[in-house]
Amino acid sequence: MTPMDQKSHKQLEIAFKRDERAKANFVSALRRHVFEDLAESLHQHYNQRTKEQIKKALPTPQTARAVHQFLRNDEYFKFYSALRVSSQDLLYQTVRAPIERAQESLYNISKKLARRPNLGSLILHPELPIPRSVTDIDIHLMPGSYHSEYCTDDLTMGAVYENRLKISTFGLFGPNLDDIGQSMARFIRERFPYMLPKKILDLGCTVGHNTGAWKDIYPEAEVYGIDVAAPCLRYGAARARLQKRSLHFEQMNATALKFPSQSFDVVFSSMFLHEIPHKQIPKILFETHRILKPGGLMLHMELPSTSQLSAFDSFYLDWDSHYNNEPFYQAFRTINLRKLVVQAGFNAENYIQDVVPSFSALGDALWRAQLKSNRPINSSKTGRLSSGIQWFFFGAQK
Ligand SMILES: C[S@@+](CC[C@H](N)C(=O)[O-])C[C@H]1O[C@@H](n2cnc3c(N)ncnc32)[C@H](O)[C@@H]1O
Repeated sequence: MTPMDQKSHKQLEIAFKRDERAKANFVSALRRHVFEDLAESLHQHYNQRTKEQIKKALPTPQTARAVHQFLRNDEYFKFYSALRVSSQDLLYQTVRAPIERAQESLYNISKKLARRPNLGSLILHPELPIPRSVTDIDIHLMPGSYHSEYCTDDLTMGAVYENRLKISTFGLFGPNLDDIGQSMARFIRERFPYMLPKKILDLGCTVGHNTGAWKDIYPEAEVYGIDVAAPCLRYGAARARLQKRSLHFEQMNATALKFPSQSFDVVFSSMFLHEIPHKQIPKILFETHRILKPGGLMLHMELPSTSQLSAFDSFYLDWDSHYNNEPFYQAFRTINLRKLVVQAGFNAENYIQDVVPSFSALGDALWRAQLKSNRPINSSKTGRLSSGIQWFFFGAQK
């Protein structure tokens, strides 16, 4: 199945009024302008300012932190940052009212679908403690974080996540918002053609948009998604059932997985580890190593490390830590990933990292051609929300 012929989940679509739709379109266009045009101008502006420094025989910033210090009082940088923060705030303001109106209907759809349990499953554990890293922070300025519930068996935060993702990524993630999953799963099928995974797990799956891509590429596999946030999992289960994908969702903390040792062939995550407190990341990798079968693959799509990018590109990614309520992001980017993987129990020679081009942007033929070309991690497109994006991942084979 390709992203184009996927069955839709139209019933979960939120009815925006005309003015709300206009606002959503405006916010999406504003985001594109900020992430593409203004970001590019900011980079040029920085190059110009550093050239002037060199002319005056003054030092230029050599680290992400130094770039931030150098730019933080700069008028252009302040304008860029103010607009980017405003566009983020506007995102949530735009989706909130229509989703509140849809609350009851989302609930009813989810209840109706739950009566058809032959397609996938949903297991919730209301007694599971939700980590403070989720409850105490409105991560990326998202009011209510992932876990908040506003009525019984609520789906609100799942709907907020999907709709804010749709608007904020201005088409980059494909029509089903699953470009990371599609690109990564296809890449693994190309690189490890002998692998026929029977069980695949997505850690921190939120609404399962990237989880489903693994089922498309490996239809024979049992595909699981875990997350701590019940509203996102309820929404994800309804979404998958409407799309006729059999996915298994369970509320679980990735630091203490309830699965038996050596039970999975692939453990994947995307955009997950950078939202986890520094001290808990080794536990998650240790758990991943435990549940993988020998020969199994661990894959984390993430932000590239500070050491792999230029000072400016690194500063650009760290922007979210300073201004977008992403408190763990910057520390994550300083981790020595190879060392982390080895400490979790993998052999150093089995460490893998690569960048994967965006499948939905390129289509099959161009995407395959790009796989054959040299794709440096330190390209200005790696992990950047702009056209030409490519996904960085690290991991290991057990
Ligand atoms: C940025 S989202 C992940 C996004 C998603 N994987 C994607 O590809 O877009 C982070 C998710 O991790 C979940 N989460 C945070 N801490 C967790 C933990 N310790 N165990 C499991 N899930 C966790 C959050 O509830 C949230 O849904």
